[in-house]
Amino acid sequence: MNNVIVVASGKGGTGKSTVAAALSAALVKLKKRVLLIDCDCGMRGLDLMLDVESEILFDCADAICGNCKSIEAVYRSKNLGELFLMAAPFHTDNEISPSVFTQLVEELKSDYDYIVIDSPAGLGSGFSTAAAPAELALIVTNAEPVSLRGAVKLRSRLTELGKTNIRLVINRFDRKQFKELGRYRDLDEVIDISGTQLIALVPFDTRLSAIMQNGLVGLNWCPAENVFDCLAQRVEGKDIPLAFRG
Ligand SMILES: Nc1ncnc2c1ncn2[C@@H]1O[C@H](COP(=O)(O)OP(=O)(O)OP(=O)(O)O)[C@@H](O)[C@H]1O
Ligand SMILES: [Mg+2]
Repeated sequence: MNNVIVVASGKGGTGKSTVAAALSAALVKLKKRVLLIDCDCGMRGLDLMLDVESEILFDCADAICGNCKSIEAVYRSKNLGELFLMAAPFHTDNEISPSVFTQLVEELKSDYDYIVIDSPAGLGSGFSTAAAPAELALIVTNAEPVSLRGAVKLRSRLTELGKTNIRLVINRFDRKQFKELGRYRDLDEVIDISGTQLIALVPFDTRLSAIMQNGLVGLNWCPAENVFDCLAQRVEGKDIPLAFRG
């Protein structure tokens, strides 16, 4: 099953939140009901991306601590109908343990076709919590050495956690920059180093970045859009070619 997906990276800033939000929006286009859970405790951002920041009264920690019913911590996105958000706590007062987070996801699972979890960067406890309930892990990397080292470390940590369904997303890819970097022969070498099967290659796209800061409005005009449509179909198990090959 691929219905609970964690989006993670070893290095920060590779584009996890962008991929999590855009993949969720693409799944909604496939008529799926999707819950995005922001697990980046103390550094949440998806409420801004989905333009619901002023509505958030409760977050996932409130749902876990019993300050509210779990449904009360779920907010419908403004522009994307069946896309829902559970925010991360604004502050990091209490750590959420993997087992209680898994319990929360188990409780919510039957109400959604997909639950997409946005992990904090790194291999720390926040990541372990985010990954605990996942049936599919997407490792987001950029095609550069530091990011790729993070992807390799993350894969091995995911394996230690017993995860076997792991795929690679190479994000912010720019052919010219990649050539100038001159570090790798081609993208196959990047994929080989990561040790993880590629599921999507996302181009560097300034429009995507702007759309993500504006409530995801206009995602359907964005050059990277078909990449996420393709990613959503691949997550659904469809055997279709990559939308962008660099
Ligand atoms: N494909 C892309 N093309 C251009 N810009 C992108 C792309 N993907 C992400 N970005 C930009 O890169 C920056 C970091 O993205 P994002 O916040 O999604 O990363 P992150 O991995 O979630 O970061 P963090 O580790 O801090 O949680 C943002 O400004 C975002 O708009
Ligand atoms: Mg993020």
